[in-house]
Amino acid sequence: MNAGDVDLTARLGPLVLKNPVATASGTFGYGLEFTDYVSLASLGAITVKGLSLRPCLGNPPPRICETDAGMLNAIGLQNIGVEAFLTEKLPELHARGATVIANVWGDTEDEFRSVVERIGDDPRVAAIELNVSCPNVVKGGMVFGNDPAALGALVSAVRPLARRPLIVKLSPNVTDIVACARAAVDAGADVLSLINTLVGLAIDLETREPKIGFTTGGLSGPAIRPVAVRMVWEVRRALPGVPLFGIGGIETAENVVEFLIAGADAVQVGTASFRDPGLAGRLVREVAEWCARHGVQRSSDLVGTLKTRPRAEHRYA
Ligand SMILES: Cc1cc2nc3c(=O)[nH]c(=O)nc-3n(C[C@H](O)[C@H](O)[C@H](O)COP(=O)(O)O)c2cc1C
Repeated sequence: MNAGDVDLTARLGPLVLKNPVATASGTFGYGLEFTDYVSLASLGAITVKGLSLRPCLGNPPPRICETDAGMLNAIGLQNIGVEAFLTEKLPELHARGATVIANVWGDTEDEFRSVVERIGDDPRVAAIELNVSCPNVVKGGMVFGNDPAALGALVSAVRPLARRPLIVKLSPNVTDIVACARAAVDAGADVLSLINTLVGLAIDLETREPKIGFTTGGLSGPAIRPVAVRMVWEVRRALPGVPLFGIGGIETAENVVEFLIAGADAVQVGTASFRDPGLAGRLVREVAEWCARHGVQRSSDLVGTLKTRPRAEHRYA
């Protein structure tokens, strides 16, 4: 079988993508910054930087630092605002044939509602992704995402305003990811994406100050991949019919395949695009090559095929 014969279509409920490789919010700008490196139309989707009702400057620096096998960030959701996105970015994204996922956020339920109302029935937007899981802001963000009841209330409030498929992006900074997943789905989410970053702290030993101005930051990159794969598997097992985007530390085609086997219907590539801006485009081809080498005709045939062994009870010597 040749890579060209592999069917890469990813079906996430009402959202159908040409392939399962998308980019993750906040790591791919508004997409247009990357056109020298990748054809936007070749990607499953691009998820744009989290948009708010008003433009936002984010947090004061320092806002990022490197860690072993990843990075911490506390950008604080800097963005140009939904109006500027609609007039300055979306027309060109559309002209270039990009499948656009609009990631949105607000400090309050009202702000979430307003931003979704503004963008939620634009036919140039393939789906809306609610960021209820940003650990780097004092208001909004995890305030909603960490509490299943608050999350359900928020999703119910915005659901009628979104005429496009609604994705809810879950926080890993919880004890029970399945409870949050269930609350979002019961309130009307069409698709779930997971995971956002894990709260971390890095310290400068000389100054004894946090390396990040916000004190804590969100950990991303390969360091978080096994946590993300485990959470995807847990949610898939508990809610088998719910379409999922897997996110966390993806750098290779093998990493993509691992998420699919765990139960993701598609993935989003995040931090790795900073080091290699053409990566997502290459992964589309390499996933097809991987499937061809393994005799897999449709990449969707891999989804949720993890073979688990029964867990044995521990034995004493
Ligand atoms: C610098 C930076 C900015 C981010 N901004 C957003 C954002 O605006 N909205 C959002 O939902 N997630 C945001 N994220 C989270 C990523 O989309 C992704 O969920 C996370 O980084 C895990 O994937 P990765 O390990 O592949 O980076 C951001 C991550 C980074 C590193």
